[in-house]
Amino acid sequence: MEREDEDEIKDMGFFLHLRLLLIALSGGVPCIHAWGKEGHFMVCKIAEPLLKEDTMRAVQDLLPEVAGGDLAAVCSWADEVRFRYRWSSPLHYVNTPGVCNFQYKRDCHNSKGEEGMCVVGAINNYTAQLQTYGDSSNQYTLTESLMFLSHFMGDEHQPLHAGFEEDEGGNTIRVRWYRRMTNLHHVWDVNIIETAMKDFYGDDLSLMIDAIQRNLTDGWSDEIRDWESCSGKLVTCPNKYASESIRLACDYAYKDVRPESTLGDDYFFSRLPIVQKRIAQAGVRLASVLNQILDASVGKRMARMLQK
Ligand SMILES: *[C@@H]1O[C@H](CO)[C@@H](O)[C@H](O)[C@H]1NC(C)=O
Ligand SMILES: *[C@@H]1O[C@H](CO)[C@@H](O)[C@H](O)[C@H]1NC(C)=O
Ligand SMILES: [Zn+2]
Repeated sequence: MEREDEDEIKDMGFFLHLRLLLIALSGGVPCIHAWGKEGHFMVCKIAEPLLKEDTMRAVQDLLPEVAGGDLAAVCSWADEVRFRYRWSSPLHYVNTPGVCNFQYKRDCHNSKGEEGMCVVGAINNYTAQLQTYGDSSNQYTLTESLMFLSHFMGDEHQPLHAGFEEDEGGNTIRVRWYRRMTNLHHVWDVNIIETAMKDFYGDDLSLMIDAIQRNLTDGWSDEIRDWESCSGKLVTCPNKYASESIRLACDYAYKDVRPESTLGDDYFFSRLPIVQKRIAQAGVRLASVLNQILDASVGKRMARMLQK
């Protein structure tokens, strides 16, 4: 009898450990290299109303059942699978060798040096895969391509997802956010958004999204064309987004920050507008690339049918 009790207690210990491990894996601890869930959710929520009708139909067709028809519901999926798909982990970011500019050949690789294995290569990759939507010969899992693209577009706009190699995009720079210890990367993924939600939006994410959307139709409306445009006939230009991010990382994220710095009101008020604008840009660009690829897919299919 006694032995059994002991075993039971040991079992409970095991399950407790397992549960803690699962909580840790599922993002209960500050996650390396990822806008928080809120950041990604906002990016996709901003993209949704900008999707054209045929694009929306294709997106609905590709979304997994669990999304319940809402793209934003699966915009953090890529973070959930980064341990299961180990190869995908470097696709969430790109690092430079301590300089404030981005060069594809120099910077876009994983730790083994494989070219293209960074967030820039990933956006090109999943855009190209989605371009095969409607082709009968398509060999990709386009549901995953859509979820990856939607996530990485968000990641690439977080300035510290194009940060310095040496400090892992701010992950190794310990700072205080008001009273709490955290790291600089986490400040940009999560803390700035969280504090804004609490201070200005009554902890209601949809109010924060509304405020960003109002700027899109108002203050920023003249800039949207610029955000969407890429040189040449490219449907997306992640090189440009990475260049913008590392510039913002130098001018705002890293600026005046030293290890063990305390970041408070000054930092918060001057950086929040950058965070909100980057979320808006990511949403607009995600919608733009999906529209260019998927709205056209209907025409593509019609053309093929007529050829037969
Ligand atoms: C491209 O996508 C495939 C399928 O998900 C993946 O195996 C490959 O690593 C990706 N490469 C890049 C650079 O994203
Ligand atoms: C709206 O735009 C202004 C001017 O760029 C900016 O200061 C402000 O932070 C923006 N607000 C939101 C919610 O994006
Ligand atoms: Zn990510």
